[in-house]
Amino acid sequence: MDVTIGTACGKVILFGEHAVVHGVPAIGLGIDRGAQAKVRPASDGLNRLRIAQWAIDVTETDDHSLARAFRAVLGEGEQAQAIDVEASSDLPPGAGLGCSAAMGVALVRARHPNASLAEVVDRAMAWERIFHGNPSGIDAAIAAQGGGVLFSRGAGATPIRIRGELILCVANSGIGSSTKSMVEAVAALHRAESSRIGPIFEEIGAIVALGGRALEVGDSHAVGALMDRNHNLLKQLAVSIPELDAMCSIARGRGALGAKLTGAGGGGCVVALAPNHEVASNITEGWGAMGLDAFVTIVSAVSTSAHRASPAVEASL
Ligand code: PMV
Repeated sequence: MDVTIGTACGKVILFGEHAVVHGVPAIGLGIDRGAQAKVRPASDGLNRLRIAQWAIDVTETDDHSLARAFRAVLGEGEQAQAIDVEASSDLPPGAGLGCSAAMGVALVRARHPNASLAEVVDRAMAWERIFHGNPSGIDAAIAAQGGGVLFSRGAGATPIRIRGELILCVANSGIGSSTKSMVEAVAALHRAESSRIGPIFEEIGAIVALGGRALEVGDSHAVGALMDRNHNLLKQLAVSIPELDAMCSIARGRGALGAKLTGAGGGGCVVALAPNHEVASNITEGWGAMGLDAFVTIVSAVSTSAHRASPAVEASL
């Protein structure tokens, strides 16, 4: 068995998080940060996963969520050679940028270099379920596919052809949150107040439809306005927090066309759309002055397909 490398991209959800868990479509974009996994035959016969930057070193039988996720990816009863995996990511974990899905997809790709896109996503979902309980699948779909993706639980992932480029500014609040508990909280709210929450999901669905068209015609002002509307609806789902609202306000005050939390909320990241690079610097400087980690990522039809992950084989190490 050769040494193999799998890669996958991180993501931002531009429209539709949370509602997507309840069957509404959502739109996400692959970004130029992600994860990598390097797989080599294990010399001691043990399946082992190491993530040096997080001081993780587990074997598949350990009592650790990453070990359980690793076990799920390896598959029950598959008689294969034991592997040693070295994984890394330049995404902050637990911040809504799809770090866990990117790592799962990278690992599956490295382990199964010839797997189809559908197989990769399917196996990565086993990994995702360990961390997220009831994931919609959008993170794994974007991690595997990259680019602009329209996703729904029923129809799966469809590529969106983005016209022009999107200059996205992303900032991490540094406040940790659990996607699993945020998703459970929204589900509980939906059960308790279905007549209020149902229409919010429907409105988010309308934003997703308009947002998809705006992306395809390159109408960034419309995209930005829809991001603002989506953020307000996420506030009504009680997944925003004052810190995220403040980060969005700063971005808007510094010229963003729109801003919203991205991912599960409760902490994690916000994403803002800048009309040009100068405004993007202005926005990230504003966040930097608050002591936040921020970066700019450019998404376009060309750049995102270039970030599409694919397995690579190293001749030797
Ligand atoms: O894992 P996160 O924080 O990017 O959240 C994913 C988006 C949710 O809609 C909140 C959950 C899901 O599974 O779709």
